Amino acid sequence: MAIFFDNPELRKHWFAVATDVEVTNGVIGRQLLGEKMVLYKDASGKVNAAPDRCPHREAPLSAGEVSDGVLVCCYHGWSFGEGGKCVSIPSADPGFPIPKSGHLRCFNAEIRYGLVWVCLGDPASDIPIITQEADSDFRRINSPVDVWKVSATRMTDNFLDIAHFPWVHTGTFGSSQRTAVQKIDLKDLTDGYHGYEYDVVAENPPSAGIASGQSGGEVSRTMTTGFYLPFAVRSTIKYHTGLEHIILLLSTPIDDVNAYFTFIIWRNDDFSIASEDTVMFDRSIGEEDRVMLEKIPGVLPLEHGALANAQSDKPSTAWRMKLSQLLNNE
Ligand code: FES
Ligand SMILES: [Fe+2]
Repeated sequence: MAIFFDNPELRKHWFAVATDVEVTNGVIGRQLLGEKMVLYKDASGKVNAAPDRCPHREAPLSAGEVSDGVLVCCYHGWSFGEGGKCVSIPSADPGFPIPKSGHLRCFNAEIRYGLVWVCLGDPASDIPIITQEADSDFRRINSPVDVWKVSATRMTDNFLDIAHFPWVHTGTFGSSQRTAVQKIDLKDLTDGYHGYEYDVVAENPPSAGIASGQSGGEVSRTMTTGFYLPFAVRSTIKYHTGLEHIILLLSTPIDDVNAYFTFIIWRNDDFSIASEDTVMFDRSIGEEDRVMLEKIPGVLPLEHGALANAQSDKPSTAWRMKLSQLLNNE
């Protein structure tokens, strides 16, 4: 497939690029859709995202530092505050007017669910909605934002796919005995996600007991999985005990073949087990996917007929079609 990351339509959507903690601790550099950017929090606590290029002599601003809510360039100390406004030019007389071109042109940026989200253009859609964020029965558990040497297209395809469970997830929950996938019917789910519901019997080794809240060799669970364009996937796992475990899987294109990956969990357990221990099992699952996907080069073909499909590929096929429409502005 031709280069997809510079498609102008993608610039109209929100992507998770960092954790809130990372920007609270200082200035960081990131790359989104080929665009190198600097992220910093200003004195009001708001996160700012701007091209990682000082307007003075093009030094990378991510090599600077944040002091009292002001981003200071490491080359000549020009400093930037709220909304990228240049607030100081140390070499100039105090009365010297700051040139218009001396301010940073910020992208849309905000903090949601413990993550920094950036939209490079005018937003055409919202950040994916997770209603449990406002429900005090649920707690949220974040994970680091990692770099995968994988196209975001292949990640999203994988996160919608059930058929790989018994092949790739043999070290976690995938039962090698159950390779057949039940018939999948797609429908609109809540909050703009589109996907399917299915019942699955999963392996429940001791390492999975914390996540499932149960012991025993196997657990039955109902999963509801759906996508939200361009690259978000929400999976809700329900156990008969009433435990709900919601996973938001986020793939952010750095370029065509590299992506940030992070996931967030919301769950209505009794909050007694440490967050870190609770997500350990999901981290191991993600690691199995990463190892598999990093073996596959390039961008996932999106054109109709480019890939052979089985019935179990229905969700991914629907997502590929909708992504194609988005990229073609149809
Ligand atoms: S290049 Fe940033 S202050 Fe000169
Ligand atoms: Fe997987």
